[in-house]
Amino acid sequence: MKTVLLNSNHEMPVLGLGTWQGKADQVKTAILHAFAVGYRHIDCAYVYGNEDEIGEALQEALGPGKDLKREEIFVTSKLWNCKHHSEDVEGACRKSLAQLKLDYLDLYLIHWPYAFARGDVDFPKTETGEMHYDVVDYRETWRAMEKLVSAGLVRSIGLSNFNARQIDEIVASSTIKPAVLQVECHPYLPQTRLLAHCQEFHIVMTAYSPLGAPNRGWKMDNERVLLLEPKVVAIAQRHSRSVAQVLLRCLMQRDITAIPKSVTASRIEENAKIFDFELSKDEMAELKSLDCGCRYVEPLIEVDGKKVPRDAGHADYPFNEPY
Ligand SMILES: NC(=O)c1ccc[n+]([C@@H]2O[C@H](COP(=O)([O-])OP(=O)(O)OC[C@H]3O[C@@H](n4cnc5c(N)ncnc54)[C@H](OP(=O)(O)O)[C@@H]3O)[C@@H](O)[C@H]2O)c1
Repeated sequence: MKTVLLNSNHEMPVLGLGTWQGKADQVKTAILHAFAVGYRHIDCAYVYGNEDEIGEALQEALGPGKDLKREEIFVTSKLWNCKHHSEDVEGACRKSLAQLKLDYLDLYLIHWPYAFARGDVDFPKTETGEMHYDVVDYRETWRAMEKLVSAGLVRSIGLSNFNARQIDEIVASSTIKPAVLQVECHPYLPQTRLLAHCQEFHIVMTAYSPLGAPNRGWKMDNERVLLLEPKVVAIAQRHSRSVAQVLLRCLMQRDITAIPKSVTASRIEENAKIFDFELSKDEMAELKSLDCGCRYVEPLIEVDGKKVPRDAGHADYPFNEPY
């Protein structure tokens, strides 16, 4: 598997397997199959609720007498929103490590820039049923992330869902620069300015929901479905490839790493066969022209009969700014 060198001096495979919404009874088989067909990078998060099962797969793949060695795979996890207080960061990391049955993570990300109320309830609510937020300076959280590196618990640290201004604030106050920014990215939301911003700091961008997250729970009526986009379908037909392969190939040609999720053996294989064809300049331009700012991963709630972003009122919400 092709890799990219991070600013932490560690290599990261450019394609990984996503695990969000990977059900407990499916995710273990999926990971073992992914390893068998060449994946070496698994994207996890505490809040996905399946790190235990992923840990079982890792234990099985890396166990005594197996071909795969720990240093040959790259495992990411993410610090959840209710663990942003600096005193909580190491405990949260150790919890993920215990579940994953690992003694270090290759990459640990702050999952979102804004905090929920401190504690062990992943989605805490107020007495009136609204989300219970907290305000924690993410630069303090970052300082605690840096300590994980010196403690040997984590090799590289990074951010997820931070905007350019928030990245600048972290960089300005950091000893260790973020190695990776993980954000939603695909032709409807190509993140062109954010990518250029990251590249100034040698921060590698990882695209989440690269296929448009068709499986998520808060779909809008009449939303555009990326996997059915006629322009991508036409390009795929021209290359005798699938739409998913074209979407992933487009990211590779933009130097963006990607973590498509699948628990289906044939799709896991299909999504990895993207290194033996090339999209032309015209095709890349055509894909670029699909930019419509469509963001799929933005939890919505209903207010007065209208669906609105749930967390947009938080001072650290990242998507109220252009990029
Ligand atoms: N940092 C963050 O805040 C954040 C947010 C969202 C996601 N992520 C990470 O990014 C990963 C990927 O994003 P995602 O899960 O939102 O969405 P995605 O990868 O865009 O799409 C996954 C969905 O597409 C289906 N699929 C996979 N390959 C396919 C193919 N070749 N053809 C047709 N359908 C295909 C999967 O179905 P089956 O599984 O049934 O095959 C699944 O329903 C996540 O799993 C997670 O690890 C991170």
